[in-house]
Amino acid sequence: MQTIHPAAAAAIAALAPIFGDRLATSASVRAQHGGNEAHYPEAPPDAVVFPETTQEVAALLRICRAQGCPVTAVGAASALEGHHLPIHGGISLSLARMNRVLAVHPQDMDAVVQPGVTRRQLNEELRATGLMFPVDPGADASLGGMAATRASGTTAVRYGTMRDNVLALEVVLADGRVIRTGSRARKSSAGFDLTRLMIGSEGTLGIITELTLKLHGQPEAVSAATCRFGSVAEAVDCVIATIQSGLAVARIELLDEMMLRGFNAYQGSDLPEEPHLFVEFHGSPASVAEQAEAFGDLAGEYGASAMRWTDRAEECRELWHMRHQAHYATGALDPGKRTLATDVCVPISRLAEAVTHAQSLARELNLTSTIVGHVGDGNFHCGLRVDPNDAEEMARLHRFTDALAENALLLGGTVTGEHGVGLGKIAYMTAEHGEAVAVMRSLKSALDPKGILNPGKMLPPQDEG
Ligand code: LAC
Ligand code: ZN
Repeated sequence: MQTIHPAAAAAIAALAPIFGDRLATSASVRAQHGGNEAHYPEAPPDAVVFPETTQEVAALLRICRAQGCPVTAVGAASALEGHHLPIHGGISLSLARMNRVLAVHPQDMDAVVQPGVTRRQLNEELRATGLMFPVDPGADASLGGMAATRASGTTAVRYGTMRDNVLALEVVLADGRVIRTGSRARKSSAGFDLTRLMIGSEGTLGIITELTLKLHGQPEAVSAATCRFGSVAEAVDCVIATIQSGLAVARIELLDEMMLRGFNAYQGSDLPEEPHLFVEFHGSPASVAEQAEAFGDLAGEYGASAMRWTDRAEECRELWHMRHQAHYATGALDPGKRTLATDVCVPISRLAEAVTHAQSLARELNLTSTIVGHVGDGNFHCGLRVDPNDAEEMARLHRFTDALAENALLLGGTVTGEHGVGLGKIAYMTAEHGEAVAVMRSLKSALDPKGILNPGKMLPPQDEG
């Protein structure tokens, strides 16, 4: 067959006897693995391989390394920055069939899972144990992908991100060696923290084949509320005051007026198209009631209105289900276009400036943008509707994303709090990290000297800095 990458044909020939019908080269499977939820152009691999064991992943990497064939890992493919797109062709390494929960240790509050287990699947399996895994990106992402992208979501303000919730990993390196990072101990002072090195490495340093995760108790009581504000600035000031007051919010999410319009268009509702906060508290019934009251008082000071509380599990679930559809709801605005979801994170005291800057920038550049944010962490997303074939609109979009990233750095923040680097944030890596990018390159060449793992991602090309 005609391949995209020159080394792919030899690699496929060597992989075929091992993987049989778990190696797919059909146009439909390749196209499926070349697509993405964002605006990036399609980039199909030459073949998709579905290993079922760590040893098979190791064998695949040994072959691909010998042939110099790129390998790009893919889990649920819900990434918003094109992480899993095999832009140079080669092999898509799907972890979808490594989808078993291997062990749950309720007394230690941890679980051992394969990388293809999704966050909802794990929580289903944990339901009867009284435990949960809280990290919740909008999509039903795979846990391996979530670790690889250092994912987070609405609950990070209370429970942390993947950085805080992975105890140990099994990783296959580019040369086929299998290593374990960390253990089931809650802490360790033994050596370099390779777990944290792998978390967020986006498939460029190794392939995660097993994860040991921290679990948390399902809260005894939950109380959630929605409220409206006269402006995004007032809503954000309320968030800043809430965090600074030390209230232990489990979730505190900003949704601007355009996002509410998106929800209405998506689900046929008639919610008031005004800035909202969605909040949630977890704890004992008494502590939840106390925190809810304190938040209600505080929100009142910032002009919150129409505050609606619920402690009914079903209603809370519906609320967060709606919130998790934000990306698709943005897609209901300006039909026919695609959504570019961008993402920055700043220190909480600078959040109001960052969000109002983003809003006025979108207006100035005449771009349709929703804003949603995990604002308790200083993290927000702009969901821009664009036509990738409209060069003039794409130029305005790039002016927007450049200015947003630059402003986040100016405010002491980062160019991505949640969505990762992938293809979309490579251009800002040097601005954010300076000389540390050279250190990242050294690590990359030590672990993957032939550059077969997810080439073209994360690190800017050498001549560009
Ligand atoms: C969210 C995704 C887009 O927060 O990160 O909805
Ligand atoms: Zn998010």
